[in-house]
Amino acid sequence: MAIPVLTIDGPSGAGKGTVSRAVAKKLGWHYLDSGSIYRSLAVLALKESVDLQDEFVMASLAQAMELEFDCGDELVVRLNGEDVTAQLGLEATGNAASIVAVHPEVRRVLLQKQKDFKRLPGLVADGRDMATVVFPEAENKVFLTASASERAARRYKQLIEKGIDANIVQITNEIEERDRRDSERKTAPLAMANDAHYIDSSDMPLEAVIEEVLNLIH
Ligand code: C5P
Repeated sequence: MAIPVLTIDGPSGAGKGTVSRAVAKKLGWHYLDSGSIYRSLAVLALKESVDLQDEFVMASLAQAMELEFDCGDELVVRLNGEDVTAQLGLEATGNAASIVAVHPEVRRVLLQKQKDFKRLPGLVADGRDMATVVFPEAENKVFLTASASERAARRYKQLIEKGIDANIVQITNEIEERDRRDSERKTAPLAMANDAHYIDSSDMPLEAVIEEVLNLIH
């Protein structure tokens, strides 16, 4: 029996995580947060003080790392047995993840780890290259985006609500730099698949985005 896959790709801060989790819960499907795999590798590299630019060292770290995902109400990630969930959400981790994600050899090593998430009754896969590289066979593909200023404003609000000091200008600059790095890299850049459904969530409430995605499946 073919295993259904819904891919949700797009730039950082477009709401992919929230939408993907809500849709996966509604459908009772598994959820792959592929960004958390690149973020975990970044956490490991920063902890071991390894040069993020060194492709072959990064690929061997990627090969050796053991990840466990606990997909309850909140995603809990254990890296080599240690709970790293809190570190994964840091801005510095996301920025470092986008540096390690440029390396083709790292992406090659992580490909199978991502494909292994495809299990019955179905999978919602969130990332940058889910539709173009990891699950090109998916029958439902979404490209979810929002303007950079709207994504920065949402991120700023999230940080302030968590009591974390934030600077809107710095967040906007980091988002634009990450967009550029993710879109311009040679291997598996952030790009919309030809057969993807495009959603610009800049002026849409979250519930409307979730409904639009669910309507594609039904
Ligand atoms: O989605 P998230 O912000 O957690 O991703 C962190 C970084 O990991 C991205 O900026 C991107 O460089 C990288 N990434 C990727 N391919 C994916 C998911 C994430 O290159 N499928």
